[in-house]
Amino acid sequence: MKNNNEWGSNLAFILAMIGSAVGLGNIWRYPYVLYSNGGGAFYIPYIIAILVLAIPFTILEYGVGYNFKSSFTKAIIKINPKLEYFGWILPVAVFIMTIYYSTIIGWDGIYFFLSFFKGWGANPNAFLTNTVLHPTDSLGGIFHFLPFVAISMLVGWFIIWLVSHKNLDDGLGKVCKIFVPILFITMIIIVLFSLTLPGAIIGLKELFEPDLSLLWDFNIWLAAFGQIFFSLSLGIGAGFTYASYTKKDIDLITSGLYVVIANSLFENFAALGIFSVLGYMSLQSGTPIPNIVSEGVTLIFVIYPQVFNILGVISLILAPLFFFTVYVAGITSMLSAFEVLSISIQNKFNMSRKKATTILVIVGALTSMIYATSCGEYILTITDSFINNFVIILCVIIECILFAWVFKAERLINFLNSKSQSLKLGKWWLILIKYIIPILLCIIWIGGINKLIATATNEYLLVIAILVAILLICSLIFTLLKPKSENWFKTEERIK
Ligand code: PFF
Repeated sequence: MKNNNEWGSNLAFILAMIGSAVGLGNIWRYPYVLYSNGGGAFYIPYIIAILVLAIPFTILEYGVGYNFKSSFTKAIIKINPKLEYFGWILPVAVFIMTIYYSTIIGWDGIYFFLSFFKGWGANPNAFLTNTVLHPTDSLGGIFHFLPFVAISMLVGWFIIWLVSHKNLDDGLGKVCKIFVPILFITMIIIVLFSLTLPGAIIGLKELFEPDLSLLWDFNIWLAAFGQIFFSLSLGIGAGFTYASYTKKDIDLITSGLYVVIANSLFENFAALGIFSVLGYMSLQSGTPIPNIVSEGVTLIFVIYPQVFNILGVISLILAPLFFFTVYVAGITSMLSAFEVLSISIQNKFNMSRKKATTILVIVGALTSMIYATSCGEYILTITDSFINNFVIILCVIIECILFAWVFKAERLINFLNSKSQSLKLGKWWLILIKYIIPILLCIIWIGGINKLIATATNEYLLVIAILVAILLICSLIFTLLKPKSENWFKTEERIK
């Protein structure tokens, strides 16, 4: 019988994981992180972060997910039923992430629509500020609703519903099999074109000029670890959940390696394209690159439209292609984040996929409307840094303790090695996941708290306090609600 929650093939799993990893973080975050943290020299901490953190932790998440064949929350209960509350904190935090991620996708949706006729006009900077975002840098703008942003965000949520409410392989599986390859193809077209622009070499030189002295700066190591985490969607339960849907013959180690390699290729390729475009822009405007380069919102929604404005007719194809690529990257990542809470709810309340996704999409879409206001960008920045720098890192530390120590990750080694056609696990893996990763993450976490205390304003702390309250209360509610599934508290373990 066909299992509604199983990938039709191992390829579907790998492509879905690549879709989860390759997202907005690869396109608008990575190039700036690379540039501002030593350029070429950044590759040293970046590669070390991949070897020490990304690969071992990805294998751990996949292995445990496969072993428990259930939602993240249910797996925590199988480890110890008293820990159910902790099993809800991560899915709820990731759902908050899904909500603000939908905002950026919404902004991109507007630009995709505008790109067919360069609707941002001659001054993209003024357009973004005065027509799209109307930003305020305080909570003051909360009553100023932005209808276009709202509509575009609702379209994004509708797409999430369209894909997620279907059986796994008919929805998520099919979409990832079609759109992840398209994502790579469109990116390759955009980058190859960007490399031919006059001035591209100026941008690339600026990007890769290594500043080796920065290697002694602790911050570039932090940046590398943070980037790898976000970019690979590590520790948010996405890898865990997707791996729990795999079939028996899966080679999880090699699959993990494919995902890590594809993700790095994509973001480095994106960096080539973006800096070629910046070089072109620099040549055209006579402004040095350091004065043009920026991250996030400005890069995608101001600098790119400016470039499309001077590129001429070709941009009528290139601009829609670019904003479409960003859109697909965002949606396939959001789908994976959405899945984490959805499957926990399906498991506990014995709910169909259709019902759980419908309820969650409605709740998510309504809640996300807070970001469709003038202070949306302001709250988004705070939510993003808080969830990524504190909540997720803390969850990963807890995951390392629960999965590597309490569950005893050594039990996975034989199974994982028996299927692996590439890397074989040994003692080195256990040392990394039991000691090195949690210790490194504790250092990063404490460093982040110190920075927060030193720099945060009262209003900033107020937003964080509200987020913590929402996180803790929602997790408590999910814990206290009576399960509808008889198996919910069963602690049987799966023998592979
Ligand atoms: N990996 C995604 C990116 O690089 O944009 C970020 C991400 C998506 C993180 C979804 C977490 C998540 F749940």
